[in-house]
Amino acid sequence: RNRRRPLPYEHIIVESEPPVGIIRLNRPKVLNALSFDVLREIADALEAFDKDDRIKANILTGNDDAFSAGADIKELSEATPVDLIQRNQFALWDRLKKIAKPIVGAVSGYALGGGCELAMCCDMIVASETARFGQPEINIGIMPGAGGTQRLTRTVGKFRAMEMILTGQHITAREAEKHGLVNKVVPLEAYFGEAKKLALQIAQKGPVAVRMAKEAVLKAFDTPLEEGLQFERRNFYLLFSTEDMREGMKAFMEKRPPNFKGR
Ligand code: CAA
Repeated sequence: RNRRRPLPYEHIIVESEPPVGIIRLNRPKVLNALSFDVLREIADALEAFDKDDRIKANILTGNDDAFSAGADIKELSEATPVDLIQRNQFALWDRLKKIAKPIVGAVSGYALGGGCELAMCCDMIVASETARFGQPEINIGIMPGAGGTQRLTRTVGKFRAMEMILTGQHITAREAEKHGLVNKVVPLEAYFGEAKKLALQIAQKGPVAVRMAKEAVLKAFDTPLEEGLQFERRNFYLLFSTEDMREGMKAFMEKRPPNFKGR
């Protein structure tokens, strides 16, 4: 009775503000470096929101100074390949990839290395003017390992990705916007609010359609066009079995807002 319940999360702050789920990285002293435990907590929290019907979209954020400065270098400096294999950290990144509900990244300050890769795991990115993106792994004798060489290249193109990954140089939020790495750049005081606006906008839509549409867009990353089109078509057909589809089209014809139920 008197026993203190263990806090569910130690390195992140999770706020449920239905319809939005908010996850804040909370290791300010190390610029939100991504230890194994932080990543595990992020994956746990996003999976919990996936199971919570009241939540329709997520926001993943850090603080004003850092979204995240990347993998925890202290945790990695003595590691051998066998350690890495046994730790199997990338299994956590695979869990992030499978999150069904949209994730809006609200990025301010440093988004470097694994931090940039984590931002790229989000479905949309709103950045403050102070945000800095980069893959500086090359400066410490390694290379991106959590999808950076693939996701960055597919996003900004070969030449810019090469420059960022081979020189380790950071780019500013404005440059990132120009290259299609972020959706929106806003003043520091506005980035979280803008991310929330986007999340709330998505939360108004039919959740099944949102989920299937997200899944189909992500397919574009790893399938040839023809296969992606087939996948899209399958999801499109499936949505015609939902109540939300009937309601959405009926509401349009009756000139009223739809009342989506997520069924
Ligand atoms: N891991 C562990 N600790 C980190 C860290 C990281 N990635 N980044 C910053 N910190 C710690 C620093 O050690 C420092 O701690 P102390 O106060 O105990 O010394 C604290 O955070 C503040 O950092 P700085 O004093 O360095 O702050 P700064 O403002 O002078 O510099 C910075 C900021 C440019 C981001 C610099 O901290 C930096 O270059 N960090 C490392 C960035 C990096 O190389 N990231 C890639 C990691 S590898 C990776 O991510 C692999 C992968 O793909 C999965």
